[in-house]
Amino acid sequence: MDNRLYIFDTTLRDGEQVPGCQLNTVEKIEVAKALEELGVDVIEAGFPVSSPGDFNSVVEISKAVTWPTICALTRAVENDIKVAAEALQYAKRKRIHTGIGTSDSHIKYKFNSNREEIIERAVAAVSYAKRFVEDVQFYAEDAGRTDNEYLARVVEAVIKAGATVVNIPDTTGYCLPEEFGAKIKYLVENVKGIDKITIATHCHNDLGMATANTISGVINGARQAEVTINGIGERAGNTSLEEVVMALKSHHELGVNTNINTRHIYPTSRLVSNLMNMPVQPNKAIVGRNAFAHSSGIHQDGVLKNRESYEIIDPKDVGIDENSIVLTARSGRAALKHRLHVLGIDLDKEHLDKTYEAFLKFADRKKEINDDDILMLAGRHHASSRRIKLDFLQVTSGIGVHSVASIGLDIAGEKFEACASGNGPVDAALSAIKNIIRRQMIVKEFLIQAINRGSNDVGKVHMTVEHEGMEYHGFSANTDIVGASAEAFIDAINKFAK
Ligand code: KIV
Ligand code: ZN
Repeated sequence: MDNRLYIFDTTLRDGEQVPGCQLNTVEKIEVAKALEELGVDVIEAGFPVSSPGDFNSVVEISKAVTWPTICALTRAVENDIKVAAEALQYAKRKRIHTGIGTSDSHIKYKFNSNREEIIERAVAAVSYAKRFVEDVQFYAEDAGRTDNEYLARVVEAVIKAGATVVNIPDTTGYCLPEEFGAKIKYLVENVKGIDKITIATHCHNDLGMATANTISGVINGARQAEVTINGIGERAGNTSLEEVVMALKSHHELGVNTNINTRHIYPTSRLVSNLMNMPVQPNKAIVGRNAFAHSSGIHQDGVLKNRESYEIIDPKDVGIDENSIVLTARSGRAALKHRLHVLGIDLDKEHLDKTYEAFLKFADRKKEINDDDILMLAGRHHASSRRIKLDFLQVTSGIGVHSVASIGLDIAGEKFEACASGNGPVDAALSAIKNIIRRQMIVKEFLIQAINRGSNDVGKVHMTVEHEGMEYHGFSANTDIVGASAEAFIDAINKFAK
């Protein structure tokens, strides 16, 4: 059996479905290019029929990317497939990913159908997709809970219809590693023609088993792993790319390789986390802030004597260059440019100048500037192009007194000011904003997180605001957390107050 595992990245499709993680087309192209540099084999760029934005992103990513195959998702519906083929017209290598639910629960409740009819619909979808592209991937949704014998019949039928890749998703993250591996083995041993196609795993992490299930699938014959950067994805997420790649790299005895340039893992992780406003949990394997931090004296001593005492991966292998992570007020523009480049961001001169200006101001307030700070600063120019901007904010608050805020907003160049009181500084600041933007707005979710440590740290604020029955997500980061809260509120407002 081929010892090469194909990496199929679905950060821009399954990952991007997470509420609050939506990217615009320019940002998606940036991620797609980073994925190309990382060395992924397939980029799932979107679900074109779902929205004009998704359609356009697939078109633009197809134009921007050269080597990876560009894949577009569809249901087993003719119009979905036709639209996906249209969106893929500029891709140098293209694939349509079509499929249908195969578990009894999906057949009965989702499709009000029966097993035979589902096979017919699966075959019809693959045959129709073959009219447009040679490379057709079929997914058997909820394969994790599909009876193996029936699954084998579905897989055999779609292979006969021309599927080149068959995806076995554990859609609900239900399987145990042994069970998932046995499922792949059963297909390898019982499906006619399976040696001519590639079997793919697509595991979700609801029980924290996504990586284990994927590796178990690979051990049993799967040769494509569907993954996302940082494991982002609906609910508990998808299998994370970095975990699968580094698990295979660390376990040579499995004899399976990928094309991933592992030194790009960390910069890509930071880029995705920053663009999607999705913090990486500190203890996340491979890319978390603490993944290579040894705090106990015994561990520090052991690592200093010999790194391998407590580390199975050299941080440099995943692109973490410990010596150059911190910048200070004395760092020059070239150092900032270099660090941004390492983090996967190449700014033009104008944006670099603006970012450097912001960097110097920030460095006056915070002695050591780390990667998260830099990414936050580089994102600043997005905020400056918004219609509604925060001009100033002054808040008086304390224990036993009423908080009062006065605020200035710049709305398309016009200045507005208002005051308000509240039961705390954030409440006062948001009420003052509401006194200017007189619309119905409810804060549904409000999350403040420190990026690093220390009382001089930057606070990241995520806010979900409901307006006319729709939810909008706002984000900001600032050493002043009341300011960050006001900016996050304004960021969300900008998304509906056009
Ligand atoms: O989880 C899943 O089943 C999916 C399919 C659409 C591939 O994302
Ligand atoms: Zn999925």
